[in-house]
Amino acid sequence: MSIQTEIRRRRTFAIVSHPDAGKTTLTEKLLLFGGAIHVAGAVKSNKIKKGATSDFMEIERQRGISVATSVMGFEYDGYKVNILDTPGHQDFQEDTFRTLTAVDSVIIVIDAAKGVEPQTEKLMNVCRMRKTPVIIFINKLDRPTQDTFELLDDIERQLQISLNPLSWPINNGPDFKGVYNIFDKSLDFFKPSVQDIEPGISFDDLDSPELEKHIGKDAKKLREDLELVYGVYPPFKHDEYLAGNLAPVFFGSALYNFGIQELLDAFVKIAPWPRPVQTEERLIDPEDEKFSGFVFKIHANIDPNHRSRIAFVKVCSGKFIRNNNYKLIRSGKTFRVSSPTAFMASQKEIIEEAYPGDIVGFPDNGSFIIGDTITEGEDIHFKGLPSFSPELFKFVENADPMKTKQLNKGVDQLMDEGVAQLFTSQFNGRRIIGTVGQLQFEVIQYRLEHEYNAKCRFEPLSMYKACWIQSDNPKALIEFKNRKHQKMATDKRGRDVFMADSQFILDMAQSEFKEIKFHFTSEF
Ligand code: G4P
Repeated sequence: MSIQTEIRRRRTFAIVSHPDAGKTTLTEKLLLFGGAIHVAGAVKSNKIKKGATSDFMEIERQRGISVATSVMGFEYDGYKVNILDTPGHQDFQEDTFRTLTAVDSVIIVIDAAKGVEPQTEKLMNVCRMRKTPVIIFINKLDRPTQDTFELLDDIERQLQISLNPLSWPINNGPDFKGVYNIFDKSLDFFKPSVQDIEPGISFDDLDSPELEKHIGKDAKKLREDLELVYGVYPPFKHDEYLAGNLAPVFFGSALYNFGIQELLDAFVKIAPWPRPVQTEERLIDPEDEKFSGFVFKIHANIDPNHRSRIAFVKVCSGKFIRNNNYKLIRSGKTFRVSSPTAFMASQKEIIEEAYPGDIVGFPDNGSFIIGDTITEGEDIHFKGLPSFSPELFKFVENADPMKTKQLNKGVDQLMDEGVAQLFTSQFNGRRIIGTVGQLQFEVIQYRLEHEYNAKCRFEPLSMYKACWIQSDNPKALIEFKNRKHQKMATDKRGRDVFMADSQFILDMAQSEFKEIKFHFTSEF
C-alpha cells in the first residue's frame, strides 16, 4: 500500500463527554462493532469513580488501566481506526485537552436527558479553537428526553456550532422505536438487547404505507418531523464539517448497542484523515517524505520499581520505522527506538512501522517531555500544546530535608509529564504548583513518595489565576514587573507569569497597564 493510501485510510479521534454521558460505553461498543473486542465489558472504565478523590490506590489502579486503553486501534472496513482515550474526571481536563491536540476529529457524547453539561462546553471550546471537526452522538434515547427539536436548539446555542442531524429518533424513553437514518436512508429498529447487532432496513420512500406497518401511528409524526428537518437544516455539507463549522448529529443508545453501527459507518466515511499540522517554522503535510511527530502524553509508572514511562508520539508525517535514527529537537540528540509499541485490538505490541495518524509508544526513562518534537533531522517545533492558566495553587515544600535531590527530580519529572505546572516566585524564590483540579495535588504527593522516595508538604495559597505576560514595550514590562514585584513568578521555561490574587485585581491590572498583554494559555 502506498503511503498516501495508508494516510487516507486512517481515522484518529477521541470520544469526549461530561462524566456519565456514556463515553466509556460508546468506546466499548465501537470496539465491539469494530471487531477489536468480542464481549461487552472488556474495556474497563478508566474514570476515577465518584467519591474516590482521596483513594490513592484507586488512582493508581485507574492509571494502570488507562495505559492499556490510552490508544485503541482496530481495522474496520478497510479503515485503520485509532481511538484516543481521555480521562473522564474533570481534574484531569488538561490531559484531555492535550490529547485533543493529537486527534484529527472528535465525537462528543451528550446525554439526551441532560443536554449540554459544563464539561461538554469546555471541550467544545477547545475543538472550536483548534477547528477540529466534531460529530455529536446523542445517547440514552432509551430514557425519556425533551423534544428533539428543542434539544438540538439548546445544543446549537450552548456549543455555538451549527448542527445537522444525520439520523432522527422515533420517540424516546419507553416508547423509543428506533431511528431513521438520514445519511443512508434506512430505518433501524430499537430492541433493548445488550448484545444483538442487527443491520437496519433500507427505506427510501417515507411516504410508503410500509412505514405504518413498521412503526404504526408513529409514522405520521416521523414524516412531519422529517419534513421540518429538511426544511430547517440544509443538506449536509461535508466541507463545512471538515472546517469545524458544522457538526453532524446521530442518536442512539450506547448501552443497548443502538445507533453505533450507523455512527461508525458514517464516521469512517466522513471523518478526516490526518491533516497538515502547523509548526513554528512551516506547515507539515502528512504526505511529506520524512518522518515527524510530537509527544502529547507521557504515561509513567507502568512498573513502579523501574520508574518506566511511555511517551506517546503522534506521527504527523512520513513513515516511522523501528530502529531508525531520529532526532529529539529539544536536546539535539539522536536516538533509536528498538521496541516501539502500538495498541491494536487492545493488545500492546511491538511495531515495525507507523504512518501519519498513528500513535506510537516510545519506552522512556526520562528523555522526553510533553510537547517534544521528533524528526529525521529537520529543526522544526510543533505548536499547539498549550498549558492553561491553572486555578488552584499551593506552595510546595520539602518535608524531608535528607531527600532534597529526590524531591527536586520528582517535581521536575512530574511537571515534564504535564501533571501540573511549576512556578517560582520572583519575590522569594518559593516554588508554587498550579493545577486545574484538587486531585492533582494528591497524585503529586502520592507519586513523590512512592516513585521518588521524597516527601512534600503543600501550603495553601489563595490565588485567582496565573497568566503569562508580554509586551512590545520593554519599558512598560519593567514598570509592570516592578509594580507587581511580589506577584511575579517564572514558569519552567523562564517566562514571566503574573499571579493575580482576584478577578478584580486582574481586571484592574489589565485596564491600568494597556501595553501589557495577558495570556491565559502558555501558547501565544
Ligand atoms: P462516561 O464514561 O461518560 O462517564 O459514562 P459511562 O459510559 O460510564 O456511562 C455512565 C452510566 O450511563 C453507566 O451506568 C452506563 O451504563 C449508563 N449508560 C451508558 N449509555 C447508556 C444508554 O444508552 N442508556 C442508558 N439507559 N444508560 C446508559 P452506571 O450505572 O453509572 O455504571 P455501570 O455500573 O453500568 O458501569
